[in-house]
Amino acid sequence: MSYPDGTSGWLITRHAEAKELLTHKSFSARQEGLVSPVPTELQYEGRPADPGAFAKTDDPIHGKYRKLLTGFFTVRRTRQLAPMIERIVHEQLDDLEKAGPGADLVEVFTESVPSRVMCEMIGVPESERKTLQRHAETLGRLSCTVPEALAAVSGMSGFLARFVPARMDDPRDDILGDLIRGGQLDEQELMGMAATLITGAFDTTGNMLAMGVFTLLEHPEQLAKLQADPELMGGAVEELLRFLTISHLGAGRWALEDVEFAGQTIKKGDVVTVALPAVNRDPERYANPDQLDIVREDHGHLALGHGVHQCLGQHLARTILRVGYEALFDRFPTLRLAVPADEVPMRDDFVHYGPRSLPVTWDD
Ligand code: HEM
Repeated sequence: MSYPDGTSGWLITRHAEAKELLTHKSFSARQEGLVSPVPTELQYEGRPADPGAFAKTDDPIHGKYRKLLTGFFTVRRTRQLAPMIERIVHEQLDDLEKAGPGADLVEVFTESVPSRVMCEMIGVPESERKTLQRHAETLGRLSCTVPEALAAVSGMSGFLARFVPARMDDPRDDILGDLIRGGQLDEQELMGMAATLITGAFDTTGNMLAMGVFTLLEHPEQLAKLQADPELMGGAVEELLRFLTISHLGAGRWALEDVEFAGQTIKKGDVVTVALPAVNRDPERYANPDQLDIVREDHGHLALGHGVHQCLGQHLARTILRVGYEALFDRFPTLRLAVPADEVPMRDDFVHYGPRSLPVTWDD
C-alpha cells in the first residue's frame, strides 16, 4: 500500500500472516521507523520512544520495562482487583441512574470506568483524572494538529513531572510506589511508564465498553441470549473484541532487513500495517466472520495483539468489560438507544474506534 507520506509499504489482512509477522524477528516496533497508515499530523519523524515508553521499542529495552509491569497485570492480580472494579462500575451506574433516561453513556459510564480504575492502580488523584483523559484523547485523535498535540503532551508531562518526583519522596501502595521501591527506574523512566499505562488503558477500554454496549443493543437477539444466561459473558466479551476490533489502524511494524515474507520481498525499512479488523474477520480463519455470535467457540482473535507486544492490560481489559456489561444490563435491563443508531456520532478520526456519545434510555 501507499502511505500518506508517499512511502510504499504493506498491509497484512490474513490472520495466519498477521500472527507470523507479529512474532517475526525481522520486524521492529520501534517508533523511529513507523509511519501512520492514515493521514495525520501526529508523525514522529524518526524520533525514538521516550525512556520507559516501551510499547514502541524492541527487546532488550522492551523486555526490561515490560518485565517490571507484568506482575501487576496477571490473571491472578486482575482477579484480586475485581472488587475495586465492581465498586467503580456501580458508582458510575449510580451516576447514570441520577442522570436519568437520555443520559450519555460515554460521558457518565464508559469513559469514566477505565480511567478511574487505572488512576487508582497508579495512584493518580481523582482531581487530575479528567484533565489526563482529555490529553490522552487529544493524542488519540488523528485530526489533532501539531499545536494541539504539543499542548496535550506538555499538559500530560507537566502533570507527571510534578506527580512522579512527589511520589518518589513519598511512595504509596500502588504500581508507581512499587516501581519506585524497586529502585530500577529513574524519574524519566517512571514518567514514561506512567504515560504508557494511562494512554494504553483509557481510550482503548472506554471505546470497547461503549462499542460493546452499542453493538449488543443493535443485536437484540444476542443480548437476549446473554441476559438469559450470564455464563455466556466470557465468550461474549471475546466475540465482541473480535467483531469490533477497535484498534482499527492495526499494529505497525517495519523491516529491520530485506525479508521474504508471504511470497513477497519486504525491503529493509518498509513499513507494515497489520490490519487487525480485517485479520479478525478473515474468512479463511472464521466461519461467517461478519456475524456477531456470542457463542462462537473459535476465538484466537488478535484484537489485543500477538507476540511480545500483546496487550499488557488484556486481563484487566477483559475484567472491566465483563463486570461493566454484566452490571449495566443487570441494573438497566430495558436499556436502549435514545436516538436512531445512525445518528450516534462516531469517532472515525481516532486511533481507537467508538462512539463520541451514546444517548441511552430505559424504563424507570
Ligand atoms: C479493550 C481494551 C484494549 C484493547 C483493544 C487494547 C489493544 C492493544 C493492542 C492491539 C496492543 C498491541 C499493539 C501492537 O502490537 O503494536 C496493545 C498493547 C498494549 N496495551 Fe492494550 N488494549 C486494551 C486495553 C489495555 C489496558 C487496560 C492497558 C493497561 C495496562 C493496556 C496497555 C497496553 C500496553 C502497555 C501495550 C504495549 C505492550 C507492549 O508493547 O509490550 N491496554 N493493546
